Amino acid sequence: MINLIRMSDLTTEQVYGLIHRALALKAGSPPLHRSDLFVSNLFFEHSTRTKHSFEVAEQKLGLRVINFDTDTSSVNKGESLYDTCQTMAAIGCQVLVIRHPKENYYTDELAGLTVPVINGGDGSGEHPSQCLLDLMTIYERFGRIEGLRVAIVGDIKHSRVARSNYHTLKRLGATVVFVGPEAFEDKTLGEMVDFDTVLPELDVCMLLRLQHERHFGTKLSDITSYHQAYGLTLERYKKLKQEAIVMHPAPVNRGAEIASQLVEADKSVIFEQMTNGVFMRQAILEHIITGNNL
Ligand code: CP
Repeated sequence: MINLIRMSDLTTEQVYGLIHRALALKAGSPPLHRSDLFVSNLFFEHSTRTKHSFEVAEQKLGLRVINFDTDTSSVNKGESLYDTCQTMAAIGCQVLVIRHPKENYYTDELAGLTVPVINGGDGSGEHPSQCLLDLMTIYERFGRIEGLRVAIVGDIKHSRVARSNYHTLKRLGATVVFVGPEAFEDKTLGEMVDFDTVLPELDVCMLLRLQHERHFGTKLSDITSYHQAYGLTLERYKKLKQEAIVMHPAPVNRGAEIASQLVEADKSVIFEQMTNGVFMRQAILEHIITGNNL
């Protein structure tokens, strides 16, 4: 069965295939149309972009979308994630999109599942659809990924976006550095470097959200000092190269990761990332549907 759980589920050829397909869909290529297929979105953690852009993508493919409401579901009677997913499969859902706060939920909870899964984010683990839409946005702007210099800035330790993007950007030949406070360093990925030193050399300045909900004791109370030390201030923005782009997976904490006036500045592609997310999620759904002969 073909799932999209981690970026390592995709070969480099498949990653570029998805980027080109998503760009073709954006340019007007007709999507696959399957009004006979049911798909369900199971979001056990809050989401605006991922949940609703999957819904838009599903509807553009003609799919029948069953939105799963965790608050009124039998999860509240103690039903496990595995039994919930098998139930959705048993009543006819042929693809599941799942977001869950537990890292690696698929390894621990979903072994033996008989329906393909697209991971919409697992705790601080991975976020493959965000990574792919980020790669699409970078490729769309530069026409390549190899040789680009990227800084991933902020809460590296708790970020599934950082993990998926770091490994894939490196695989595709980009140079990736990290910027942020020591408390947010993930030594398995790499050490932090000085923001102001790397800033003028960057092609991509990828900011991350401060994940307050995952800090558990490392919470930063002084947002102003975080912004001055690690945020994209107007002063730092001016030091970026002419052609550099500013990215953020959002939601954005304005005034923390980025000065509010820069969210829609010329170099910012933050809302373009969201637009691209719909086309990339269409491409991902096509990949899962055709790959599993559904
Ligand atoms: N970027 C992202 O995953 O946003 P949501 O949490 O709103 O889905």
